[in-house]
Formats: sequence, structure tokens, C-alpha cells
Amino acid sequence: MLTLDISKIAPFVSTETINAYADRVAAAQKALEDGTCPGNDYIGWLHLPSSITPDFLTDIKATAAILRSECDAVVIAGIGGSYLGAKAVIEALSNSFQWLVNDGKNPVILFAGNNIGEDYLSELTTYLGTKRFGVINISKSGTTTETALAFRLLKKQCEEQRGKDVAKKVIVAITDAKRGAARTCADKEGYKSFVIPDNVGGRFSVLTPVGLLPIAVAGFDIDQLVKGAQDMEKTAAQPLAKNPAAQYAAARYALYTKGKKIEILANYQPKLHFIAEWWKQLFGESEGKDNKGVYPASVDLTTDLHSMGQWIQEGERTIFETVISVENPEHKLLFPSDDENLDGLNFLAGKRVDEVNKMAELGTQLAHVDGGVPNIRIAIERLDAYHLGQLIYFFEKACGIHCQLLGVNAFNQPGVEAYKKNMFALLGKPGYEKETEAIKAKL
Ligand code: PA5
Repeated sequence: MLTLDISKIAPFVSTETINAYADRVAAAQKALEDGTCPGNDYIGWLHLPSSITPDFLTDIKATAAILRSECDAVVIAGIGGSYLGAKAVIEALSNSFQWLVNDGKNPVILFAGNNIGEDYLSELTTYLGTKRFGVINISKSGTTTETALAFRLLKKQCEEQRGKDVAKKVIVAITDAKRGAARTCADKEGYKSFVIPDNVGGRFSVLTPVGLLPIAVAGFDIDQLVKGAQDMEKTAAQPLAKNPAAQYAAARYALYTKGKKIEILANYQPKLHFIAEWWKQLFGESEGKDNKGVYPASVDLTTDLHSMGQWIQEGERTIFETVISVENPEHKLLFPSDDENLDGLNFLAGKRVDEVNKMAELGTQLAHVDGGVPNIRIAIERLDAYHLGQLIYFFEKACGIHCQLLGVNAFNQPGVEAYKKNMFALLGKPGYEKETEAIKAKL
């Protein structure tokens, strides 16, 4: 089971302070359970793991099997919560050199619709030009510009390259049950489609088809992912003393109230880079509102000790650090001895590379605490689907609790609309005539 260690925040926030939040945490948990918290239309994620049925997983796996047999490459079109969870899990579970070692057993998984880079899309379509490819089009609203743009290009290319009949088999939609252009298109074209439940918002949707289908297509064990989340759902329903998600939420809140406004999520495994990207969206979009919220940042260590390490050690003391640590790597690699010892590293000969990594982690943690940075450590036994399932639900539950401690609605994102309004006005979208005039006057 995932473990949480908050002992290294003690010099900054006492255990008594954390424990004193027990009643507020309990009230937040109750409000989630009773559906009385702000944004209560979107708490479908709370008991999502335990409500997943074998039939649902069978349907996902059957669709994944079709895409796996019919495609050398599958493009996941989606942005924000409609791609980050899948990307995070797939990267975490894949070989670090998946592009080079792909033996053809699994389709290459690509992502699009999460940017509007012309070079990105152009290079993607060129790459796909020689491939038997399929598309999973993911958008809850079904109207998101980035995703719709990419999907239009990919749909056309897929139909031209593979013919309309095959395209129908290898394009899958994951969207709202009734609303939005993605739904209209899926129904008209007769694509296989999955519904994103109304009461689950994008950034909490990784355990719906939004995350599960791409992860299954990539060849990973979604049963174990769900099992991990189910086990954490039980653990994270307990009172503060026995609940790591609640303790993490209380610790964050206590640090925030002491002026630690930035949280840096650190990992010591490059494969976790996108877990941090997913986590930044989960916490950033959920709590950054009403002029409140911990700013979620991230570093990949030890890499970034040679860039951001200086700032973390000696910069402004408004940060705290949360380390995700993987106890056991998948592979074993011993550091070799060298007769000449020109690099002076023979003292490490015979040690596992991970032992060096773990000492780097411990040494960094102690240095950062000495430098005035409170440190939280989250450890998982190994980087597999089961433990990632635990980690995902752990963060979701902690986020749901923490937002209530902060007093914000975790489940809306009103601030995201501002750029869209300006972009549509600048592009002259029909219906935006007044906004176009107003924005042009500012240029
Ligand atoms: O968490 C959220 O709700 C957002 O980040 C959405 O996932 C993102 O904006 C994409 O929206 P949609 O799935 O409607 O295309």
C-alpha cells in the first residue's frame, strides 16, 4: 500500500497542528459523501473505482483489442483531463525507449489535440502517412477547439488512407451521452463510442473510458489499475489518523497557511514526468481560484538538481516539496568495477544504481529540509498498474478534501474561458462580432 511520510514537515508544522484539522477534514469527507460540497454535481469520481463492473471492463478491452489488431499507431486526441491521465499512466508503465524497442506487439501511442502547433500536427500527419492508424477522439464537451482541430485532420487522413469502412472501425469516440459535436459526429458516422459520466469532470476522469481505453490499447493491465484505485478508495474513506489522502490534504493546508504557497512535486524516475503533469492539472485547475490555491510545480530529479536545485535550496522560502518515491525498480543493474578507477567511482562498484538514486533522494531531502523546505514523501512499492491506481485515487481524494479546506469549488474551471473568448474574438468566430470589435480596439 502507498505510504505517506509527513515527519519532515515537523520543523515547520507540528503534528498537533495537523491533528487539529481532524474535524475539518471529517466534515470535508462527509460533504463529499453526502454530496453537499461545492460543485456537488461533479463528485461521480468519489465511488467510481468501486462502481466499475467486469462487463464495463470487458467492453473496454474488446474495443482495445480491435484497435490493437487493426492499427500500428493509435492517436489519442484530447486536451487537459481528456489526455493527461492516459499519457501519465502510459509513460509510467512503458519502456523508457519505447520508440526504439517497439517490437510491433503494441501499437505506437501518440497524442494530439493538446496543442495547436502547426509543425506538431504536420509532422504527426507525415509520420502517420505510412501507418495503419486509428484515433480515439476524447472530449467531454465535444467542442474543445484544440481537439476538434486535430480530429478533423486525423479523421480526413484516416478515411483517405484506410477507406471509410475501416475508418469506422478504428475511430472511437469518448464523449458526452447526448451533447456536443463529438457526439453528433460519432452517431452520424456510426463510431463505437463510450460515455463520460455527467458527474465526472475531465481532470477526475482517468478511471473512466477517457483513461482506461487508451491505457488498454497501449497493452497495460486496466484490471490492476482499477483494483489499486478500489483499494485506495477504501483506505481514503477512513478518518484522518488512518487516511494518507486526508493527511496529505491537511499537511498541504497547514503549510499553505504558513506561507508555503508553492508545492514542488519531485520524482526520481524519469517515467513519472507525466504523472507530475497530470497532478499539476488536477490540483492547479481544481484549487487555483478566488485568489487562492497552492501553486503546483514539478521537477524531475536528479536531472533538475542541476537547474532548479539551486532555487529549491536557497531561493525564496515559499515552497514545500513532495517526493514520489518508487521503492523497487523493475530492473536490476549493478555498478561495475573498473581497474583503472579513473572516475574514482570504485567505491560504488557492486552497488545497484537504485541504491545510488535512493541516497541522492535521501541526501536531497535532508539538504532541502535544512534549507527551509518542508518535505512530504509518498512511496509506492513499484511502478505498476496496481500502484498507479492507488496513487491516482489518493491524489483525487486529497484534492477533493484540500479544496474544501481552502473553501473553493474543486470541480469548476471558470478561469479557462478567458483565453477562449479572446481567441475566438481574434479569429472572428461567428457570434463573436462584439468581442472582435472590442479586442481589436486593444491592439
Ligand atoms: O478538467 C477539465 O475539466 C478540463 O481540463 C478538460 O478536461 C479540458 O478542458 C478538455 O475538455 P473537453 O474534454 O471538454 O474537451
